[in-house]
Amino acid sequence: MKATARAHTNIALIKYWGKRDEELILPTNNSLSLTLDGFYTTTTVEFRNDLTNDIFYLDNQCISGIPYQRVTQFLDLIRQLAGKHIFAEVRSTNHVPTAAGFASSASGFAALAAAGSKAIGLSLNDKALSRLTRRGSGSACRSIYGGFAEWQKGEKKDGSDSFAVPIKPQDYWDIRVAAVVLHADEKKVSSRVGMKRTVDTSPFFKGWVDSIPQDLEQIKAGISERDFEKVGSVAEANCLKMHATTLGANPPFTYWYDTTFTVMQHVQKLRDKKIPAYFTIDAGPNVKVLYLPENEADIKRELESIPGVRDVILSKAGQGITYL
Ligand code: PMV
Repeated sequence: MKATARAHTNIALIKYWGKRDEELILPTNNSLSLTLDGFYTTTTVEFRNDLTNDIFYLDNQCISGIPYQRVTQFLDLIRQLAGKHIFAEVRSTNHVPTAAGFASSASGFAALAAAGSKAIGLSLNDKALSRLTRRGSGSACRSIYGGFAEWQKGEKKDGSDSFAVPIKPQDYWDIRVAAVVLHADEKKVSSRVGMKRTVDTSPFFKGWVDSIPQDLEQIKAGISERDFEKVGSVAEANCLKMHATTLGANPPFTYWYDTTFTVMQHVQKLRDKKIPAYFTIDAGPNVKVLYLPENEADIKRELESIPGVRDVILSKAGQGITYL
């Protein structure tokens, strides 16, 4: 009753921002992402009769508190699905530089769902695995697939139709992402809290939700035409709209730092110099820059020259879940 799985993190080009059900993690809008090869989590789950509770090691450290609770609550879902009452030892290794500003929760929960369900004897198809993964962390449900994936929000109250589907595989298009790491403190507003405050109080939230279908249609057209400018400009505009909703919240908040803004301006400057590059930003200050392989050297040089930038980590499109 032991299995090991690897999952990669993903970056949303059309963001998931807002839940219609907090408990089941059901979103108010569809989202679309690119899985990245540079950042992943490897997890081994072993269900054992001799255990009286779950044990969770992350990077060889025994974990307690809230991160432990999120893991055991997720294992409860797996036990429920399998109809088995048995505890597990979970060992995870994160290959996501914590400072890179990527949520390791996406690769973490996708790897846990895959290894855990396999170890307990369930054989879930991708849809079922994505649906299960969603309950750990919403954005993680897209990490089941390599390349481009879309999380379909679904309509049903029980969440049975809310899961991700593949759009294009990893090798479809060599599109790249530079993670621009800034000097930053611990995040002040988690994505969970930020989303809830936005949904509850921001008058801009309705505009955000209403604009999604058109953004999705355009970005999907851009992907199928391999039109970098179309994909990049839709992703950048979608990111700005998401962040605009937080400024309308009560109390208002933003994830941006002055350096976040500086990086955004440099990306626009690159475009003025005819180097295609577009940014996107999640629930934190760091910026991710989309670019094409032929511009890699210029992009890296420009981004590294910006004062306040601590690191620039480059990544290609990544693969979906693999079992080791
Ligand atoms: O899945 P969570 O709770 O980590 O929320 C992720 C939210 C964003 O990263 C801001 C957007 C997204 O779609 O990944």
